[in-house]
Amino acid sequence: MTIRICPSILSADLAHLAADVARVLAGGADQIHVDVMDGRFVPNLTFGAPVVASLRRHTQALLDCHLMCEDPDRLIEPFAAAGANILTIHAEATRHLERHVAAIKAAGMQAGVAINPATSLAAVEEIAPQLDLLLVMTVNPGFGGQRFWAPGVDKVRRARDLLARAGSRAMLQVDGGVARDTIGELAEAGADTFVAGHAIFTAADPAAEVGALRRLAEGGGAQRGLRAV
Ligand code: DX5
Ligand code: ZN
Repeated sequence: MTIRICPSILSADLAHLAADVARVLAGGADQIHVDVMDGRFVPNLTFGAPVVASLRRHTQALLDCHLMCEDPDRLIEPFAAAGANILTIHAEATRHLERHVAAIKAAGMQAGVAINPATSLAAVEEIAPQLDLLLVMTVNPGFGGQRFWAPGVDKVRRARDLLARAGSRAMLQVDGGVARDTIGELAEAGADTFVAGHAIFTAADPAAEVGALRRLAEGGGAQRGLRAV
């Protein structure tokens, strides 16, 4: 299992964004998570494609863009042009998930679908074979630094089974409340791609925190391996 750590810039110092991104990349971060909020799908408003385009001028890192936005199809071309590598849209935000997933791939990006805590995995069952990433939210999206939704651990376990049944090699990402006390059990349940904003950027040493989270995830993942034997 390849563990990926994805610092969310939502909790970075946005006035020193390039420096904060460089720090976590120096700590071994695998992809930079960009939380795009439209003030409609979620109450908060953050940043759009221009920020991705600016980041792209400073780094070759994978930019993993999580759209918490209504009508996400209108954002596919702008984010592709800005240099996004992964574009994740919410199942709850559109009636035409399959069409938009296909459009994301046609635009040259990897396609992800996210589901909120109250959304059943059934919402992604049919599309699972087409996904590059499945995001199981472990908070209700909208803000960083929220309390971890504990039932998410069992949901991750069921999501891992769903991907296996679909024959999918998609990343299984978790987002919300991921920290030292939750990452091990999430990895043990089958998550392999971990978003962390608050935990990384409020740490005294964000680069070191990336490494600490990775080691704990690897420990959880190894336990999962032992169980499978
Ligand atoms: C939640 C966002 C998350 C958030 C990460 O709306 O999608 O990516 O920044 O959450 P914390 O801060 O809990 O790691
Ligand atoms: Zn996110």
